[in-house]
Amino acid sequence: MGRLLQGQRRVLRRPRQPRWCGQARCHPQGPPADRRPAPAGARRVRSPRALPDFPWDSLAPSKERASAVAGGIVDLSVGTPVDPTPQVVQDALRSAADAPGYPQTWGTPALREAVAGWFARRRGVPDVDPDGVLPTIGSKELVAWLPTLLGLGPGDVVGFPRIAYPTYDVGARLAGATPQVVDGLTALGPMTASTTPKLLWLNTPSNPTGKVLGVEHLAKVVAWARQHGVVVASDECYAELDWRDDAEGLTTPSILDPRVTGGSHEGLLAVYSLSKQSNLAGYRAAFAAGDPALVKQLLEVRKHAGMIPPWPVQVALTAAIGDDAHVAEQKQRYAARRAVLRSAVEGFGLRIDESEAGLYLWATRDEDCWTTVDQLAQRGILVAPGAFYGEAGRQHVRIALTASDERIATAAERLRAG
Ligand SMILES: Cc1ncc(COP(=O)(O)O)c(C=O)c1O
Repeated sequence: MGRLLQGQRRVLRRPRQPRWCGQARCHPQGPPADRRPAPAGARRVRSPRALPDFPWDSLAPSKERASAVAGGIVDLSVGTPVDPTPQVVQDALRSAADAPGYPQTWGTPALREAVAGWFARRRGVPDVDPDGVLPTIGSKELVAWLPTLLGLGPGDVVGFPRIAYPTYDVGARLAGATPQVVDGLTALGPMTASTTPKLLWLNTPSNPTGKVLGVEHLAKVVAWARQHGVVVASDECYAELDWRDDAEGLTTPSILDPRVTGGSHEGLLAVYSLSKQSNLAGYRAAFAAGDPALVKQLLEVRKHAGMIPPWPVQVALTAAIGDDAHVAEQKQRYAARRAVLRSAVEGFGLRIDESEAGLYLWATRDEDCWTTVDQLAQRGILVAPGAFYGEAGRQHVRIALTASDERIATAAERLRAG
């Protein structure tokens, strides 16, 4: 534990202050008023740190092709929910429409209690401390800013899976840290001090592959991370959509599971989003939970930066995370769509790999993903090329279950027609 604390203290530096703030008197409103404006040529806005091209733009020609097919496009590319936001959540949002004052960055005690209750009820985690819960403005925001919020920067490594949601890489770049693919524990073994990540992202169930990390695997990662003072953030936003025929339970294992943690959440964060399970991607409702000391650190910066989930969203999030019925209902819808799509996709000649949980089928014909994208676009079906998620995904496509029953049936019909 001592080693962990030491390691984490190194991670948990304060993010850098603007230079004028470190000088003799730190002005609360900004730079000293007597500072002369910079000459016109010098007032250059810095371009963002080498961010990758936004990959979805490259899908536009395929989208156009698919849209031209009679009967219209079946868009299975982006995993954006299409079913209505549950009434219980809409009602909660409406009930909080009168919100003249600023909400708490930390979220209300009721919200934090509700999240702890969900972990106990649904995830087999009875010991989430409500002080270790932090609402976020959707989880993409936290994924993109976590390295910065932890004070990571040049020379620090942020690790993430080889085939992964691209924002882990983006977050490392935004902080000026080094993004690095980390492949399982075998690769973790021989790392040196300068190549050991300060922050390691896990994503279970994975977007895009649907792979689920089991308790044993998670426990090994946590033991390794503790030995090396590494913070582990586990992005678990598809946990409720577990398709495995598995006696273990109804949701996928969490990094905070006592069988993983041995009873301490130190150095660990589970990141969760309600976008998918509750059809409220438009609300931007998500949270992180785990180590109260880490959450305190994040909170300190987020308060300064105004990263506050709006009050009506906090109320809606509290209602959504406390209601299991709508989640079960939505899971049924996706199960039915998944069954229809799965057999049609396989009938068309694609092999489905992994895909144990989550909102996607990870499919391949052992050919370049763009060839498969083209083949499907000719039939009016738009899917995401696996290359969007890393070079190792180049022979796969990601097929989302997020379309209406009618659109899924249309896709299946077209695939069966060959
Ligand atoms: C793995 C993963 N993490 C995070 C997110 C972001 O979700 P949101 O920002 O809607 O909470 C997504 C969305 O697709 C995702 O797939």
